[in-house]
Amino acid sequence: MAETAKVIVRPEGLPALEADRPTVPENCALVVVGASGDLTRRKLIPALYQLAKVGALPEGFAVVGVARQEMSDDGFRREMHQAVEQFAREPLEEAAWERFAPSLFSVCSDASTRDGIATLADRLQEIDSLRGTRGNRVFYLATPPRVAPAILQSLHAEGLLCDARDQPFARVIMEKPFGRDLQSAVELNRLVAEVVSESQVYRIDHYLGKETVQNILVFRFANAIFEPLWNHKYIDHIQITAAEEIGVEGRGAFYEETGALRDMVQSHLLQVLALTAMEAPVSFKADDIRDEKGKVFRALRQMSDADVERNTVQGQYEGYRSEDGVAADADTPTFVALKVFVDNWRWQGVPFYIRTGKRLATRATAVVIYFRRLELCLFEDNDVCQALEPNVLVIRIQPEEGIALRFVAKVPGFQMSAANVLMDFPYESTFGRKIPAAYERLLLDAMNGDQTLFARRDGVETSWRFVTPILDAWEAMTDRPAPLYAPGTWGPADADALLGTDGRAWHPL
Ligand code: BG6
Repeated sequence: MAETAKVIVRPEGLPALEADRPTVPENCALVVVGASGDLTRRKLIPALYQLAKVGALPEGFAVVGVARQEMSDDGFRREMHQAVEQFAREPLEEAAWERFAPSLFSVCSDASTRDGIATLADRLQEIDSLRGTRGNRVFYLATPPRVAPAILQSLHAEGLLCDARDQPFARVIMEKPFGRDLQSAVELNRLVAEVVSESQVYRIDHYLGKETVQNILVFRFANAIFEPLWNHKYIDHIQITAAEEIGVEGRGAFYEETGALRDMVQSHLLQVLALTAMEAPVSFKADDIRDEKGKVFRALRQMSDADVERNTVQGQYEGYRSEDGVAADADTPTFVALKVFVDNWRWQGVPFYIRTGKRLATRATAVVIYFRRLELCLFEDNDVCQALEPNVLVIRIQPEEGIALRFVAKVPGFQMSAANVLMDFPYESTFGRKIPAAYERLLLDAMNGDQTLFARRDGVETSWRFVTPILDAWEAMTDRPAPLYAPGTWGPADADALLGTDGRAWHPL
């Protein structure tokens, strides 16, 4: 039975591009602690440059890069110019760069010590008068989680984390991973709560800044036809995949401490799962959405050791052990697949299959909803009945962002013959607009004080509560190292068996 794709989506009443104005934040300084790292070059500065280009940054603005290595403001600007040339999503425009560059400053200090923060505080005061940033500060901790406590304590001790109600404001953006297991996440949260209030904390998960991830909520709650079907009565199972073609790309040492479960599942994929599975929030306000996501995390069925044996798969790509910073006998998984249940009224008995891995066959992140098969096939022709596939809805998060729905149609002709057809909505060409990068949205939201797309304390802890028993069980299985898989494949055979034993298969992406 042929499967054909047809694009039949036409946007109606599309608001004019000019009407899509960003909310420009109050004057402020964005202080990037850990500015010499990869994240600053690859994501943060290109995103800020893009925001500057479209006029989304305030008149009085500064980016203050804090690193241990000595670097002049000019040196920092030159390096960041290169970074934008290399990583911005659109070719660099020199005129836009010239307007943005004077807002960049470099401070050499050890932010984990009070002396280091005192140096930073002096420089920030100077920058306030130079750039008109009015003492408003957003601190971005682009640092490994283990140094975050010392940095926060030093910022607090030097009086840089004023109270949430105060003007000027102080906010803290914290990078993932937020802890490395339940205990460390609880401890980190406790420490954070000692120095700032929850309304000042922005725990970043860049998946939440992706347009197509936000669209899960719009798709679910702005359309009448899907909601009645969005439950165990009509949905057979759900697959969530985040496949990458790249390996660890020079981040071997970081990855050795994390592995695929901590790096991708605890944060990104459980967030996507929560948005797919949650109930309608009372409103689209930050806490109402986070309340509903929190209920999904709480309903995740905890795995016993036996469940971990049955319902989890690990893998490691061949060649991982030769990557820089990786031990020759490392058993860190670079691939993981899980079968997960959400034990609530809506989802009883519906498996959520999650997989993620590096060096896989292609780059593709998607949520795939498999609806139930028909109970009865009315067509007498057995071939037709055999060929009827269940309806499938594919939400493509990246690349080729879009949504596709598979259904069955009669093939024109004298015979009763049917084909699976695919109705496809491609995001970018439908709207004719470039999709903003996740960090652009999230940085702007944090500067505007909007926490909707950031993880809350309880959500982080409940997701670790689900993940930690899996990590513990794996650790105890020292006799079962992660099986190797060849780069360019879909991971170890066990990942196919995870669905195969249930009579299902991964949807081709
Ligand atoms: C990061 C992980 O959070 O997300 C990386 O640390 C991963 O290992 C990256 O490569 C994937 O992000 P994206 O946006 O490319 O899907």
